[in-house]
Amino acid sequence: MRLADDEKAMLDGAEGPAVAAAMDLLVRYGEALGAERLCDIRNVAGTMTQPSPVKAKLVREGGWNKAFSVLNLDSDDDVEIPPMRVPTCQLQQGFGEDALGVAPYPPGMIELQADAESFYGAHGVNILATCTPYQVGNLPVRGEHCAWMESSAVVYCNSVLGARTNCEGTASTGAASLTGKIPCWGNHLPENRHGTHLIESAVPVDGFLDWGMFGYFVGDVVQENRPVVTGDLRRPDLADLKHFGAATASSGGVEIYHIPGITPEAATLEAAFGGRAIPEKIVYGERERRAVYQRLNDQGESADVDFILLGCPHASLDQIARAARALDGKKLNPGTELWMMTPRALRTVADRNGYTEIIHKAGGRLLTDSCPAMSKSAPEGTRVFATDSAKQAHYLPAILGIEAWYGTLEDCVEAAVTGTWRGELK
Ligand code: F3S
Repeated sequence: MRLADDEKAMLDGAEGPAVAAAMDLLVRYGEALGAERLCDIRNVAGTMTQPSPVKAKLVREGGWNKAFSVLNLDSDDDVEIPPMRVPTCQLQQGFGEDALGVAPYPPGMIELQADAESFYGAHGVNILATCTPYQVGNLPVRGEHCAWMESSAVVYCNSVLGARTNCEGTASTGAASLTGKIPCWGNHLPENRHGTHLIESAVPVDGFLDWGMFGYFVGDVVQENRPVVTGDLRRPDLADLKHFGAATASSGGVEIYHIPGITPEAATLEAAFGGRAIPEKIVYGERERRAVYQRLNDQGESADVDFILLGCPHASLDQIARAARALDGKKLNPGTELWMMTPRALRTVADRNGYTEIIHKAGGRLLTDSCPAMSKSAPEGTRVFATDSAKQAHYLPAILGIEAWYGTLEDCVEAAVTGTWRGELK
């Protein structure tokens, strides 16, 4: 890999041992990938504060410098960590203090995380604590090179914002935050961003449920390729695209998609394919739509619902407002719990708008920082859960061994209030 002068200097230790270890990691990583060079970045989204038993042990042995060295720099040396060189934010993490007494999640992990937030916050990591950093002020511009983790965030970053990132890991984002560099390969290169598959919807894709199901179909069909989607698509909003992308990255491994006339790198169908031949279309019709719904509900047997999960990816203010309207004046069934996940910054606004009070009065909880899949934690005794998220319906049955129902926000709220799942595809 060709290194620029500033990169060689970092590697040679001109900026201290932590930066040298970070550059060494990036060179090893880039060479393994066949990258020819590094690119300059100014936007990192990683998981420095995420608690775990391994991290707790490292902190006991050598403090937070040691934990960062081992986990974020892949280095056995215990080096002092300097401030982050480029803007860096924390993605989702474990449950925070607001989950104490609500989620059966170890208080020791909450304390460890609070400690991590102090350390990394002082080193310049912005503790956004969400899988949707783009909802709370971290918005790279079109064409900007980034180093992000979290599949649902990566696909949003590439597709909706037109910024450029691969799906990075704990170590590469750690190294990127101290150097402002990342291997220049994959989605960073324009020729790797054009569409490979054309999927046309013959049925209306309108609203959160349908964008999630369509995404689940598309991801399953293209796996790790780059879909261009067209057809009877009603104009999506932020929540629809967030759900669509997260679903494509759950049933498949999509990191970028294009919607001609909507996403920034696809002004036209031809542009979405970079001027190359347009492949034969794959059609998503009523039969396929019903099959996806069936598949997302395959894990549901009992209609007695213990738990409702909303806000995956983390809910927008508009989604919180809709949930509050649906729950206003109602009470949850005594045996059923409802959690809605959102970034802390949006929770603050929801508090000011009175949405939180409405949700809590009904017996639900508006929680931050994490989610049941990430923290492997649902209300004690949960056997059956329901959600409006294709991603959570995909993962949570395997993670927690519980049954799942998938439907609309309204289906979920009705199940929360009655304790019974009655969702069906209209
Ligand atoms: Fe976010 Fe958890 Fe869903 S991290 S994307 S709410 S699985």
